[in-house]
Amino acid sequence: MNRRHFSAAISASLLAGGVTPSLALAAQPPPSLAQALSPFFAFGAAVTPAQMQGRDAAFIQQQCAVVVAENAMKPAELAAAGEGRYDFTAADALVDAALARGLKVRGHTLIWHNQVPDWMFVENGKTVSRTTLIARLQRYVTDVVTHFKGRVFAWDVVNEAISFGEDDVKTDADGLRLSPWRTIIGPEFIAIAFRAAAAADPAALLFYNDYETQNPRKVAAISKLVKQLKAEGVKIDGIGHQAHYTVTHPPMAAFEQALIEIGKLGVTQHITELDIALNADLMKDGVSAATPELLALQAQRYADFFHLFIKHRAHVSAVLVWGLDDEHSWLRYWPMKRFEAPLLFDGARQPKPAFWAVLKAATAPR
Ligand code: XIL
Repeated sequence: MNRRHFSAAISASLLAGGVTPSLALAAQPPPSLAQALSPFFAFGAAVTPAQMQGRDAAFIQQQCAVVVAENAMKPAELAAAGEGRYDFTAADALVDAALARGLKVRGHTLIWHNQVPDWMFVENGKTVSRTTLIARLQRYVTDVVTHFKGRVFAWDVVNEAISFGEDDVKTDADGLRLSPWRTIIGPEFIAIAFRAAAAADPAALLFYNDYETQNPRKVAAISKLVKQLKAEGVKIDGIGHQAHYTVTHPPMAAFEQALIEIGKLGVTQHITELDIALNADLMKDGVSAATPELLALQAQRYADFFHLFIKHRAHVSAVLVWGLDDEHSWLRYWPMKRFEAPLLFDGARQPKPAFWAVLKAATAPR
């Protein structure tokens, strides 16, 4: 569009009295969601080291109050070379660039069954012994949390340890996933990880993070875990809801119930990885374009969720989306290569209807 057509389009939209923000704001940055949401909680996004240091940094600073590394702080990235042999280069670059721009940093993730280096569970060519794995877990958590001490304000200490009703996931009777951590160490791997993290940085907020946290059985298992840890004198400060949602799943009421139940435990809650897929079934492929109808439905869902986060702001202290824009969404390659557009900005970094819906939810009179 040349300049004349552009201004003609703007005047036309202004004349029509309609809000066509994507046109009107094409030349200037959109309003800051972090700022609009700052009365309620810290808003942010998952980023890469390259984004945080490159041309995207100003955009991130404008839209976010907090960032998290999408992958750069996972064990497979930090400790690929072997026990005690760390490469913090990319993670440090991300963290320091974020701090220099006044952003807070979430740490994701210390103990998980995915993206762990192979050496972790092997000793002399065989499955590692329980004693050795406990020592490795403690050393890894201690070293990493110590390295980022004072720079990372909140850690996902344990990620995705609980599962219910998933055909492909084996668990124990309490719903604890039979990961190498659980199988080799026992259920106490969770307490051991939280103790090590608390000792390494007493000021950091320590989280248990998971998906499908609105599932009542998961809520019950999380409640049991939090109570048990607290009874044992183990510090746990928060629960992270990954919130990988879709235009139809989960029902709002189920999520609100989970927020309320977990709120009763005296821990704060972060929405850690929010995205709202256009494919109604997160595991399926089928949507081939972001139609206006789907974008409107998605915007409504974003608005509904943000209304709930704001309503329960006494219990929600941070909300992060899982990526800067649709082109950088993991849902474009997981669980298969497909079209997806689950975030607030499109691939051209233009705010989507979902962005304006969140902004409206943030600024609604209350
Ligand atoms: C995902 C990243 O987005 C992908 O780039 C990577 O290939 C796999 O991991 N739950 C989590 C996140 O806790 O760490 C995952 O991130 C998404 C699901």
